[in-house]
Amino acid sequence: MRRFVIPILACLSVASGQAVSDPAPPPPGLTERFFWNQLDYAYPTPQMRAAALNSQEFVPKNNLPVGIEVWNNKLFISVPRWDKGVPSTLNFVPLEDEYGHPLPPISNAPLIPYPDWETNQMGAPCKNRLNTVYRMRADECGRLWVLDSGTIGIGDTTQQVCPYGLHVYDLNTNQQIHYYQLQASDTNKDSFIANIVVDVGGNCSDTHVYASDELGYGLIVYSLDKDFSWRFDHQYFHPDPVAGDYNIGLNYQWSEEGIFAMELTPVQPDGSKTLLFHPLSSYRNFFVSTNILKDQSKAISKNYFHDFSYFPDLGPNFHITTQVIHNGVLYKNLIDQNALGCWRLDKDYTPANHAIITKEDTSFIYPSDLRITKTGTLWAITDRMPIHLMATLDFKDINFRIFSGDANQLVAGTICDPYLQAPPKPQPSAYNYHRYDPEYKTNYYPESVSPYRTPLKPVKEYD
Ligand SMILES: *[C@@H]1O[C@H](CO)[C@@H](O)[C@H](O)[C@H]1NC(C)=O
Repeated sequence: MRRFVIPILACLSVASGQAVSDPAPPPPGLTERFFWNQLDYAYPTPQMRAAALNSQEFVPKNNLPVGIEVWNNKLFISVPRWDKGVPSTLNFVPLEDEYGHPLPPISNAPLIPYPDWETNQMGAPCKNRLNTVYRMRADECGRLWVLDSGTIGIGDTTQQVCPYGLHVYDLNTNQQIHYYQLQASDTNKDSFIANIVVDVGGNCSDTHVYASDELGYGLIVYSLDKDFSWRFDHQYFHPDPVAGDYNIGLNYQWSEEGIFAMELTPVQPDGSKTLLFHPLSSYRNFFVSTNILKDQSKAISKNYFHDFSYFPDLGPNFHITTQVIHNGVLYKNLIDQNALGCWRLDKDYTPANHAIITKEDTSFIYPSDLRITKTGTLWAITDRMPIHLMATLDFKDINFRIFSGDANQLVAGTICDPYLQAPPKPQPSAYNYHRYDPEYKTNYYPESVSPYRTPLKPVKEYD
């Protein structure tokens, strides 16, 4: 990402220094759960907080939340160390009070370092420290998978103080249960890896993690069983050169941002899943079977170009950084439109089959991460990231918000509604389906690997 100095756009600001309520309405269908003027942390004592402010170990204006995850009554929040004064990169806020009751909307809730303060210190020992976390993902085995980029700084200021590492925590005991340091061959000189997806197979040791190298243009596969990793390189991981222009409050170019948003389909009849992946500066999804990714010999052979496939281009205003699948419906953050969008997996991947499910132009600026729980609650964080990166946030204003809503209700009545009658089965055509067929020397999309094989009836995922 490049830094530009651009005049800040006018923001609605609250009259007093400390907000007590949010003057901006939530997007329809979502409930505001947390909101912040600026981030704060749960220091053990007020004296320690004052000392951290004084020593600039904590510089509130440099703290921007980027990723979320939800597990039981914890809402995890990551804060990258892009600048000095970020005291803790992996944190949580409780979703319930001590009696197990859901909490009302909370302003400026202090973040609690996870699993503790010590782990969130920088530098050595790298296996026990978290430097910068962008995304963390909980799995159905009660584990939290955390990718530490090992970096401090952003762009040209980046220092690699630790190697890229996967840290795994037992969510029931809050203990670290595994650490894996990415191999030198998993990255290259341009690597910037922020996002992961976790793929649990038939049992908890049969787990793979896919990590996207956004600026080095790779996909890294980690096998827990083998405790080993390998890398795929493919031109589909690159940005689309015509999709690097953004208008999100201000105009800027992210011309280099490759593969970022990823999501797995439910298990298909052959036991595989399909990984959908989307370069950030692109208007389309690409996809590959997890059978290919899990096959280390494929990666070594370099003979996998035609195992990767792509959907048609959706056109401007379809930049995304997150996509999540629930009940046969893909939910995505439309960062250009202050909106959430959807697409039902059994329909053709065309703009007409995409719908905007909610949008709001003040409270929903840059929805940077989305999650959907097993019970169908969608969570979204908005953080005005481009304004933070390329101008300055007004900390009298409310800048960061977390919302929740019912995923099925959000798409009810839209073209993505999973309870509406199934559409006719799509017929393969050269335009809609792009999988290379060596026999016909053409691009089509065989049913056997199609994410369209997702049952048309709403499916229950890992309940
Ligand atoms: C877990 O699944 C893998 C892959 O199917 C299998 O090889 C392994 O034996 C299983 N482990 C256990 C403990 O069941």
